[in-house]
Amino acid sequence: MVAIGTTAEAVPQAKVREKVLVLDFGGQYTHLITRRCREAGVYSEIAPFNLSLEELAQFGEVKALILSGGPRSVYEEGAPHPDKRILECGIPLLGICYGHQLLAEMLGGEVERAPKAEYGRVSINITEQSPLFNSLPWKIEVWMSHGDAVLKPPRGFKVTAVSESGLISAMENAERRIYSVQFHIEVRHTPQGKKILENFLRDVAGCRCDWRPVDLVGEMVREVAKEVGGEAKVICGVSGGVDSMTTAAIIHRAIGDRLHVIFIDHGLLRKNEKELVLESLKKLQVKNIHFVDASREFLAALRGVRDPEEKRRIIGRLFVEVFERIAAGIEGARYLAQGTIYPDRVESGATGILTSLIKSHHNVAGLPERLGLLLVEPLKDLYKDEVRQIARTLGLSSSVIDRHPFPGPGLAVRVEGEVTEEKLRICREASAIVEEEFKRWGLYDSVWQAFAVVLDSKWVGVKGDARSVGHVVIIRAVTSEDGMTADWYQIPDELIDRISRRITNEVEGVVLVAYATTSKPPATIEPC
Ligand code: XMP
Repeated sequence: MVAIGTTAEAVPQAKVREKVLVLDFGGQYTHLITRRCREAGVYSEIAPFNLSLEELAQFGEVKALILSGGPRSVYEEGAPHPDKRILECGIPLLGICYGHQLLAEMLGGEVERAPKAEYGRVSINITEQSPLFNSLPWKIEVWMSHGDAVLKPPRGFKVTAVSESGLISAMENAERRIYSVQFHIEVRHTPQGKKILENFLRDVAGCRCDWRPVDLVGEMVREVAKEVGGEAKVICGVSGGVDSMTTAAIIHRAIGDRLHVIFIDHGLLRKNEKELVLESLKKLQVKNIHFVDASREFLAALRGVRDPEEKRRIIGRLFVEVFERIAAGIEGARYLAQGTIYPDRVESGATGILTSLIKSHHNVAGLPERLGLLLVEPLKDLYKDEVRQIARTLGLSSSVIDRHPFPGPGLAVRVEGEVTEEKLRICREASAIVEEEFKRWGLYDSVWQAFAVVLDSKWVGVKGDARSVGHVVIIRAVTSEDGMTADWYQIPDELIDRISRRITNEVEGVVLVAYATTSKPPATIEPC
């Protein structure tokens, strides 16, 4: 474990970071491409599809460009196209699906509606030696999802794989280091996809493939120390989640006791969360902790409010007010540290790409401006699992690192309608049972989130000989890579049975337990 509180100078200099850019043409798997590159040991970022050659130059050592999939047809009016100069700049290129078709169309080949669309699992035959297919069998299973196809490759390209329906599945111009595949190497349904990507990164792009998320710790600490300088104080709001705690740990490493942590109990926290957060901060040796129990204020403001958006707005507004009050008392504070991570930025459209979904509720919007503070976001380029790896290096306890993500507005988004003490109690107790049982079964780490939701509607029950009316609790458990899409998790029968029995027996006021079996999309993870 690394000692907390060391100075930035103690951290060794990082080597030049090689990078792969993924140009986003709006494909649903664009994020996965970036993740797979990082898993293969090459730092990767998403960039807008229309990145210019001049903008590309600002990205540092770009070892390769990957052109993502996308929902459009390359020959349609207004279909997104990259800057043609990028295709000719000599950086190795890999086109995937729409990216494959774009390369064909832009370099002089032919793309048309396919005589037969290919969706799902398809067998392809590798017809020519190719660095992409090094060490692979001649026939492999891949995942396809396309209605258009490359009917003729551009001049100078050779076809290297053909599908069982006779369509071009891969092509390349080795001399120009341009490669493309019709199938999705980034999804798990293409079992050899990882190998194909690694072949491209190592053998075509010449990457070292030695990047690890923890390599960024030194860099982040140095950057914060440089940005903040030798005197200013930094305020960091923590919620107990791994993102904000890791942010606090990094800032603390960079500037020591000039870090001031604000922790607001809005009365919507999970069971024992307050104690856990305070203990963890102590363990990190953070000295300046400003804790405030504002639960009464929040509950009073939420009284009578039923609309989910209105609840979020009230909580957000009040949070800012309470935060402002505390921050005003911290003299010399010039910066606000936030635990924003990469998917937050992409979901809020900060990268300006086609897939972006605006989700205002993910950040406490406007806080830095209102406080007149500058923003520091050391985790802004990381995925959740990468943050967890870093948190481990920084010495955070596993109860913080491995705890499921929890929304800013807390349990308020898990109770239907008005937020009352009664519903909060039920939600808190029932969720604690869900978490406890998932842990007991060794399944806690297999899911992204598992929790209980309390409905407003009541169900008639019989307890003993008497009829009683009580709340309905819904169990929600999902798997996900980053919260943007999620699959409902099939809880083993015995486990769901045990959870259900325990909730109706142990949590006063619950008569019926139900189980949510819808993925995201179409449903979101949090209900209210
Ligand atoms: P949804 O419900 O949008 O959730 O599918 C995706 C992920 O985001 C979390 N979430 C929130 N986080 N404020 C937050 O800070 C919110 O209002 C909010 N709503 C959802 C959710 O827990 C899940 O991990």
